Amino acid sequence: MKSKIGIGLIGCGGIALANHVPGIALSPVARITALCDADGAVLNRASEQTGVSSKTSRYEELLAMDSVDAVIIATPNLFHAPIALAAIKAGKHVLCEKPIAMNAPEAAAMCDEARKAGVRHMTAFTYRFVPAMRYMAHLLSTGAIGVPYHFRAQRFQDWGMRSIGWRQVARMAGSGELGDMLSHRIDFAHLLFGGFTEIVASLRKYIDVREGQASDLDDWVSILGSFENGATGVLESSKLVTGGGEGGRSRDLCEVNGSEGSLVYELGMPFHIRVGKKGGSGFETVSLPKEFLTLPGSNRDPHATDPLVGFRYDQDVEFIQAILEQRDCRPSFVDGLRAQIVMDAAMESDRTKQWVKIRPC
Ligand SMILES: NC(=O)c1ccc[n+]([C@@H]2O[C@H](COP(=O)([O-])OP(=O)(O)OC[C@H]3O[C@@H](n4cnc5c(N)ncnc54)[C@H](O)[C@@H]3O)[C@@H](O)[C@H]2O)c1
Repeated sequence: MKSKIGIGLIGCGGIALANHVPGIALSPVARITALCDADGAVLNRASEQTGVSSKTSRYEELLAMDSVDAVIIATPNLFHAPIALAAIKAGKHVLCEKPIAMNAPEAAAMCDEARKAGVRHMTAFTYRFVPAMRYMAHLLSTGAIGVPYHFRAQRFQDWGMRSIGWRQVARMAGSGELGDMLSHRIDFAHLLFGGFTEIVASLRKYIDVREGQASDLDDWVSILGSFENGATGVLESSKLVTGGGEGGRSRDLCEVNGSEGSLVYELGMPFHIRVGKKGGSGFETVSLPKEFLTLPGSNRDPHATDPLVGFRYDQDVEFIQAILEQRDCRPSFVDGLRAQIVMDAAMESDRTKQWVKIRPC
């Protein structure tokens, strides 16, 4: 193993600069060694911001570089699978943005090829790294709510009528609100309650034209489902919660109820959860134990940055740790595939107006 792990960024737009550049900067053993973006202006801006001079508009060139041991793919969704498969073929470890593919067969191929090649593979389900979500998962794994009854997730933002670029184009994104926002909450469901057995879903597009460009994808989605553990789930996500704000300050709620109690996560309170106990008279707000404020092994100071932002950097820490420890990333491409299977089923259910069985993977 080299003394430093070289990271190639493929797609240097919004999320690469906001999440991954500072995330990699936290690691004493990793550094960004090459940049790739199809847009020259974006590439130059990323080069200026990172000080990395090795840059190309063709990902094939980046994958041929010896200085690159691992890649982070942060392009529009259409390009995830082809770039990931090429990276795996070149023997690079891959952290891929969500949703990892356009459909489940593509995601399954990514899992298979990564396993065969023995490279590390990770899905950027960033919100798993919110301290409150990590604590909630810990409490559930210790049986804190007894017999699970209900899973509930709500992601409500006000994106209004504005242009959202490739995100409003089916050919580039695959799905709208479903893949963009609800995919993270489908992953919460998997993390907290395990697999779904069947779902029924509805998707709705309200806005046909955003700033003069056709918009052909869902602005709202809802899924009703049953889990292997016997519980029920209700998930809803919308871009059109007028007046509700956006980003970390808008509603991102996840709640679980069981025979012994309930737990509530809200992104806006990343260092707290709300707890309801059997026989109690309502929810209490509980501070997280200190050890949950950062991912174990992360040298990040949880109070040094906005708590609604800093947790995102732990995702890159996990990628690097998994490479060093030669173990599976958490979450891996398998988690990306599981979410993709539910997303495909949601689109099928919306088309057929039927419940759809979820096959385990
Ligand atoms: N995990 C999260 O919380 C989170 C948040 C935002 C976005 N995302 C995901 O990250 C990905 C990127 O989103 P974004 O908001 O940064 O988009 P963006 O449009 O800001 O950036 C994407 C970049 O990819 C570049 N690009 C397009 N095709 C390319 C190619 N073939 N080779 C190299 N570069 C190419 C574009 O020029 C652009 O600069 C999407 O999959 C999105 O769903 C995840």
